[in-house]
Amino acid sequence: MSHKYPGKLILFEGCEGSGKSTLIKALGEILREKDYNVVETKEPNGLARDILLNPDHFLTPREELAIFIDGRAEHFSETIIPALLKGDIILCDRSSPSTIAYQHYGRGLDLTDILIRDAKARQNVNFDLIILLDINPEIDLERKKPETRFELEAINFHHCVRNGYLEQAENDPDGKWMVIDASKDAGIVCLEALDAIYKLLAKRGKEIA
Ligand code: TYD
Repeated sequence: MSHKYPGKLILFEGCEGSGKSTLIKALGEILREKDYNVVETKEPNGLARDILLNPDHFLTPREELAIFIDGRAEHFSETIIPALLKGDIILCDRSSPSTIAYQHYGRGLDLTDILIRDAKARQNVNFDLIILLDINPEIDLERKKPETRFELEAINFHHCVRNGYLEQAENDPDGKWMVIDASKDAGIVCLEALDAIYKLLAKRGKEIA
């Protein structure tokens, strides 16, 4: 079980430029038209976002991790859990799997330490569905001029991150991950994601009935 709340927590993951934000916007519009209450949210947010992304800031990997984890604790307690309680559908752009992909596979920080701190920050609330937009970082970074501290990392870092995502998706005991080839047409990517979301919502209908 992902959590005890009536809402659904749908997470979108992938490397920079994989098209997550465009996809989330399109899905939000479609679901709202069908009268679902949808909350779109993302990590990192607020002041933490500027501290973490600004290439002029020097942070050690441990400092970086601490800021992501603190931001997540606030995000879950102030935005995600209240929306889940109301029964909303949350479309969330990045969360825990990003920390595993970037701070463990990318930066080399200890996985067990990350898992313990991350679960606490989420208050053990788990995701209902994780949609990974997979794309080769070489194509990915071509779509956008690198600007942030992460985008400016060497290509090898981005390959480690992609591999980190694919390993998480493969090692998926609860069947929550769905991998979509993000090099495909945006309309097809959207239809595939929508299909997975409708299946999840149909399951919810059965649980309530
Ligand atoms: P952002 O501009 O939001 O990336 P995008 O729009 O491509 O999703 O930048 C967030 C950056 O933070 C992104 O490079 C990934 C990184 N990140 C981590 O390293 N660890 C984390 O836990 C999270 C949530 C993000």
